[in-house]
Amino acid sequence: TERSAAEHLDALVRTVPDFPEPGILFRDLTPVFADGPALAAVADALVAPFADGFEVIAGVEARGFALAAAAAARSGHGLLLVRKAGKLPGATLRESYALEYGDATLEVHADQLPAGSRVLLVDDVLATGGTLSASQRLIERAGWVLAGTAVVLELTGLQGRARLAGGEVHVLQQA
Ligand code: PRP
Repeated sequence: TERSAAEHLDALVRTVPDFPEPGILFRDLTPVFADGPALAAVADALVAPFADGFEVIAGVEARGFALAAAAAARSGHGLLLVRKAGKLPGATLRESYALEYGDATLEVHADQLPAGSRVLLVDDVLATGGTLSASQRLIERAGWVLAGTAVVLELTGLQGRARLAGGEVHVLQQA
Protein backbone atom coordinates (compact mmCIF):
# COMPACT_ATOMS: atom_id res chain seq x y z
CA THR A 1 0.00 0.00 0.00
CA GLU A 2 1.11 3.56 -0.65
CA ARG A 3 2.59 5.58 2.15
CA SER A 4 0.65 8.65 3.24
CA ALA A 5 2.21 12.09 3.23
CA ALA A 6 2.56 11.91 7.02
CA GLU A 7 4.39 8.57 6.79
CA HIS A 8 6.78 9.98 4.19
CA LEU A 9 7.44 13.02 6.38
CA ASP A 10 8.06 10.87 9.45
CA ALA A 11 10.56 8.83 7.47
CA LEU A 12 12.36 11.61 5.61
CA VAL A 13 12.33 15.00 7.37
CA ARG A 14 15.67 15.53 9.04
CA THR A 15 16.14 17.68 12.14
CA VAL A 16 19.54 19.36 12.20
CA PRO A 17 20.65 21.04 15.44
CA ASP A 18 22.42 24.41 15.43
CA PHE A 19 21.79 25.25 11.78
CA PRO A 20 22.09 27.89 10.38
CA GLU A 21 22.92 29.30 13.82
CA PRO A 22 23.51 27.90 17.30
CA GLY A 23 20.24 27.11 19.04
CA ILE A 24 18.18 26.70 15.86
CA LEU A 25 16.69 23.26 15.19
CA PHE A 26 16.56 23.20 11.39
CA ARG A 27 13.94 21.07 9.60
CA ASP A 28 15.46 19.77 6.37
CA LEU A 29 12.95 18.73 3.72
CA THR A 30 15.50 18.04 0.99
CA PRO A 31 15.13 14.25 1.43
CA VAL A 32 11.41 14.68 0.77
CA PHE A 33 12.15 16.66 -2.40
CA ALA A 34 14.56 13.94 -3.57
CA ASP A 35 12.01 11.10 -3.20
CA GLY A 36 9.48 10.95 -6.04
CA PRO A 37 6.61 9.21 -4.23
CA ALA A 38 7.15 11.37 -1.12
CA LEU A 39 7.16 14.62 -3.08
CA ALA A 40 4.00 13.59 -4.93
CA ALA A 41 2.19 12.55 -1.75
CA VAL A 42 3.16 15.75 0.08
CA ALA A 43 2.23 17.97 -2.88
CA ASP A 44 -1.16 16.26 -3.17
CA ALA A 45 -1.81 16.49 0.58
CA LEU A 46 -1.09 20.23 0.63
CA VAL A 47 -3.73 20.89 -2.01
CA ALA A 48 -6.34 18.27 -1.07
CA PRO A 49 -8.58 20.32 1.29
CA PHE A 50 -8.89 23.15 -1.19
CA ALA A 51 -10.24 21.02 -4.05
CA ASP A 52 -10.83 23.35 -6.99
CA GLY A 53 -11.28 26.49 -4.91
CA PHE A 54 -8.30 28.26 -6.44
CA GLU A 55 -6.74 29.08 -9.80
CA VAL A 56 -3.06 29.44 -8.98
CA ILE A 57 -0.59 28.18 -6.36
CA ALA A 58 1.88 30.70 -4.91
CA GLY A 59 5.19 29.41 -3.56
CA VAL A 60 7.57 31.36 -1.31
CA GLU A 61 11.29 31.48 -2.17
CA ALA A 62 13.08 29.18 -1.95
CA ARG A 63 11.83 25.95 -0.45
CA GLY A 64 8.23 26.91 -1.05
CA PHE A 65 9.01 26.99 -4.78
CA ALA A 66 9.74 23.26 -4.85
CA LEU A 67 6.51 22.35 -3.09
CA ALA A 68 4.33 24.83 -4.94
CA ALA A 69 5.71 23.79 -8.32
CA ALA A 70 5.11 20.12 -7.56
CA ALA A 71 1.60 20.84 -6.30
CA ALA A 72 0.83 23.04 -9.32
CA ALA A 73 1.99 20.42 -11.78
CA ARG A 74 0.17 17.61 -9.96
CA SER A 75 -3.10 19.55 -9.78
CA GLY A 76 -2.92 21.27 -13.16
CA HIS A 77 -2.75 24.81 -11.78
CA GLY A 78 -0.39 27.67 -12.54
CA LEU A 79 2.47 28.78 -10.32
CA LEU A 80 3.13 32.22 -8.88
CA LEU A 81 6.50 33.10 -7.37
CA VAL A 82 6.76 35.11 -4.14
CA ARG A 83 10.39 36.19 -4.43
CA LYS A 84 12.99 37.78 -2.26
CA ALA A 85 13.59 41.43 -3.13
CA GLY A 86 15.28 42.42 -6.37
CA LYS A 87 14.72 39.25 -8.40
CA LEU A 88 11.60 40.08 -10.43
CA PRO A 89 12.04 42.27 -13.54
CA GLY A 90 8.51 43.65 -13.87
CA ALA A 91 6.41 45.98 -11.74
CA THR A 92 6.20 44.52 -8.25
CA LEU A 93 4.48 44.92 -4.93
CA ARG A 94 6.76 44.63 -1.90
CA GLU A 95 6.18 43.68 1.71
CA SER A 96 8.78 43.68 4.47
CA TYR A 97 8.80 41.81 7.74
CA ALA A 98 11.07 41.83 10.74
CA LEU A 99 13.72 39.19 11.33
CA GLU A 100 15.66 38.72 14.53
CA TYR A 101 18.32 40.99 13.05
CA GLY A 102 17.15 43.43 10.36
CA ASP A 103 14.30 42.71 8.02
CA ALA A 104 13.43 40.87 4.84
CA THR A 105 11.40 41.88 1.81
CA LEU A 106 9.26 39.76 -0.50
CA GLU A 107 7.87 40.74 -3.90
CA VAL A 108 5.34 39.58 -6.48
CA HIS A 109 4.71 40.66 -10.02
CA ALA A 110 1.58 42.73 -9.57
CA ASP A 111 -0.11 42.27 -12.92
CA GLN A 112 0.27 38.59 -13.67
CA LEU A 113 -3.21 37.47 -12.57
CA PRO A 114 -6.63 39.05 -13.06
CA ALA A 115 -8.17 40.77 -10.06
CA GLY A 116 -10.17 38.31 -7.99
CA SER A 117 -8.01 35.31 -8.90
CA ARG A 118 -8.00 32.79 -6.07
CA VAL A 119 -4.49 31.95 -4.86
CA LEU A 120 -3.45 29.03 -2.66
CA LEU A 121 -0.30 29.99 -0.73
CA VAL A 122 2.26 27.22 -0.06
CA ASP A 123 5.49 27.04 1.93
CA ASP A 124 7.51 24.40 3.74
CA VAL A 125 7.63 25.69 7.31
CA LEU A 126 5.50 28.04 9.41
CA ALA A 127 7.83 29.37 12.12
CA THR A 128 7.32 32.96 13.33
CA GLY A 129 4.82 33.53 10.52
CA GLY A 130 6.62 36.60 9.16
CA THR A 131 7.16 35.07 5.73
CA LEU A 132 3.63 33.82 5.22
CA SER A 133 1.92 36.89 6.65
CA ALA A 134 3.93 39.14 4.29
CA SER A 135 3.02 36.80 1.42
CA GLN A 136 -0.64 36.99 2.37
CA ARG A 137 -0.48 40.80 2.37
CA LEU A 138 1.03 40.74 -1.12
CA ILE A 139 -1.81 38.56 -2.42
CA GLU A 140 -4.40 40.85 -0.90
CA ARG A 141 -2.73 44.06 -2.12
CA ALA A 142 -2.51 42.65 -5.64
CA GLY A 143 -6.28 42.31 -5.69
CA TRP A 144 -6.32 38.55 -5.56
CA VAL A 145 -8.22 36.36 -3.11
CA LEU A 146 -6.38 34.20 -0.60
CA ALA A 147 -7.99 30.79 -1.10
CA GLY A 148 -6.00 29.26 1.75
CA THR A 149 -2.55 28.66 3.14
CA ALA A 150 -0.86 25.25 3.19
CA VAL A 151 2.42 24.33 4.87
CA VAL A 152 4.20 21.06 5.48
CA LEU A 153 5.38 21.77 9.02
CA GLU A 154 4.17 24.16 11.72
CA LEU A 155 6.56 24.91 14.59
CA THR A 156 3.81 25.55 17.11
CA GLY A 157 6.03 26.98 19.86
CA LEU A 158 6.69 30.11 17.79
CA GLN A 159 2.97 30.91 17.48
CA GLY A 160 3.30 32.06 13.89
CA ARG A 161 -0.28 31.11 13.18
CA ALA A 162 -1.48 34.07 15.23
CA ARG A 163 0.16 36.43 12.72
CA LEU A 164 -1.64 34.96 9.73
CA ALA A 165 -4.73 36.35 8.05
CA GLY A 166 -8.06 34.64 8.49
CA GLY A 167 -8.88 31.78 6.19
CA GLU A 168 -7.95 28.16 6.31
CA VAL A 169 -4.39 27.24 7.30
CA HIS A 170 -3.73 23.62 6.40
CA VAL A 171 -0.74 21.99 8.08
CA LEU A 172 0.52 18.47 7.38
CA GLN A 173 2.55 18.12 10.59
CA GLN A 174 3.21 20.03 13.79
CA ALA A 175 6.39 20.02 15.81
C1 PRP B 1 12.32 29.67 5.85
C2 PRP B 1 11.16 28.75 5.50
C3 PRP B 1 9.98 29.67 5.48
C4 PRP B 1 10.34 30.68 6.55
C5 PRP B 1 9.59 30.41 7.82
O1 PRP B 1 12.75 30.31 4.70
O2 PRP B 1 11.37 28.12 4.24
O3 PRP B 1 9.82 30.33 4.23
O4 PRP B 1 11.76 30.58 6.77
O5 PRP B 1 9.97 31.30 8.83
P1 PRP B 1 9.02 32.38 9.47
O6 PRP B 1 7.65 31.74 9.68
O7 PRP B 1 9.69 32.69 10.78
O8 PRP B 1 8.94 33.55 8.56
P2 PRP B 1 14.08 31.18 4.58
O9 PRP B 1 13.73 32.61 4.81
O10 PRP B 1 15.13 30.55 5.41
O11 PRP B 1 14.42 31.08 3.03
P3 PRP B 1 14.89 29.87 2.06
O12 PRP B 1 13.69 28.98 1.84
O13 PRP B 1 15.27 30.61 0.84
O14 PRP B 1 16.02 29.16 2.72
